[in-house]
Amino acid sequence: MIKAIRGTRDLLPPETALWNFVDETVRDVFRAYNFQEIRTPIFEETQLFARSVGEETDIVAKEMYTWEDRTRREGESAQSLTLRPENTAGVVRAYIEHKLWERGLNKLYYIGPQFRRERPQKGRYRQFYQIGAEAIGPESAGSESPARDAEILELLASLLNRLGIEEWRLQLNSIGCPADRARYAEALRKALAPLTMKMCADCQRRAVHNPLRVFDCKVPSDQPLIETLPRISQYLDEPCRKHFEQVQEILRAVEVPFTLNDRLVRGLDYYTRTAFEFTHGSLGAQNAILGGGRYDGLSESLGGPKAPGIGFAIGEDRLVLALKRPAEAVLRKPDVYIAPLGAGMDREAARLARELRGHSIVAELGDETFRLKKSFEIAAKLGARYILIVGENEVKSGAFALKNLESGEQVSVPRSELPARLEATS
Ligand code: HAM
Repeated sequence: MIKAIRGTRDLLPPETALWNFVDETVRDVFRAYNFQEIRTPIFEETQLFARSVGEETDIVAKEMYTWEDRTRREGESAQSLTLRPENTAGVVRAYIEHKLWERGLNKLYYIGPQFRRERPQKGRYRQFYQIGAEAIGPESAGSESPARDAEILELLASLLNRLGIEEWRLQLNSIGCPADRARYAEALRKALAPLTMKMCADCQRRAVHNPLRVFDCKVPSDQPLIETLPRISQYLDEPCRKHFEQVQEILRAVEVPFTLNDRLVRGLDYYTRTAFEFTHGSLGAQNAILGGGRYDGLSESLGGPKAPGIGFAIGEDRLVLALKRPAEAVLRKPDVYIAPLGAGMDREAARLARELRGHSIVAELGDETFRLKKSFEIAAKLGARYILIVGENEVKSGAFALKNLESGEQVSVPRSELPARLEATS
């Protein structure tokens, strides 16, 4: 038997109702903040991720699904392609390719699958879904303002609250500008030099090539050593410190609680200044429900113009896990089960169903070969609120037996009144 690949999974009903509920709610929230949807391809040139996320990151070094694509025109060499492990790189690529700076500040969001070859466990999959947003544009459009950072964070707080996810914690840090990080990297190298002998092989490599990445280490025995390292907060220059202070001031004004965490450096190289994660207690080891930050130099590092930006991505799989409500609570059950009774009644039932569905009534359609008892059983199993009997007598008289399956009450309703009757109660 062929099964779904390890780390991937099927999302089945009724659980998909929760996903739809999340999608609809976030689209609604994005609308209120004037974000618009962007869709980029799920695979891109491998170089895009190497140059943005960074060669030394776990994502690029270990987790990408990459292949040599031979489907190019004759004479052209194969091209290295990669299933997107995240969507910020693709959005910034599109920003450059389509000269989106001409539109001023772009407030874009996306919902879609991402791919990372991580060890599967609860809340961690190889195909997972992100709901993300990016605010990016020329400096003159206000893209670098701390007001943008605070707006994004406030949006996230409101979104989580609206979904009924309340026990979140916003962890906030600033990782400064490239000059700050160069000085910090030097300090880290020095501090790491006497320690690396005792650390894992990955950390020994990171200590040389990209010491900040030591903070991505998940090896338990390395953690006490990592705890002793200097922190980026001591290396911020005055403009970065001030920017971070202003973000915090606005957050306090809009009453979004946060915790400063100067160990939070995020696992991707493109970040500058504000970096954040929202964690949730119920998620266990994979407790980051979302992450994000500023990436003021990303466009330039991909060959574009200066375009400061800030964004985030929510792990939708984890968000759904953190929702406390059962799928049934958001599932719309059929308003009516239409039960054709006897030969020739499928046609009449189909006509009625078409009319009712035209009024946005959720109608499930039975089959004329079913006995009435079977129709009742199916209607009950589906949780339909009404059953509508379509038999020869009903068609002749133009009045239909409509039974409320909750109260047991049965009435005879003229055909023309059926939509209003079912709409009024839906
Ligand atoms: P990230 O922290 O790599 O950031 O991923 C964001 C979120 O995606 C995580 O907090 C987590 O909820 C979810 N996630 C990541 N990997 C997995 C996985 N294997 N299984 C399930 N969920 C996962 C980014 O991707 C950045 N592009 C975010 C961003 C946007 N920064 C600026 N703009």
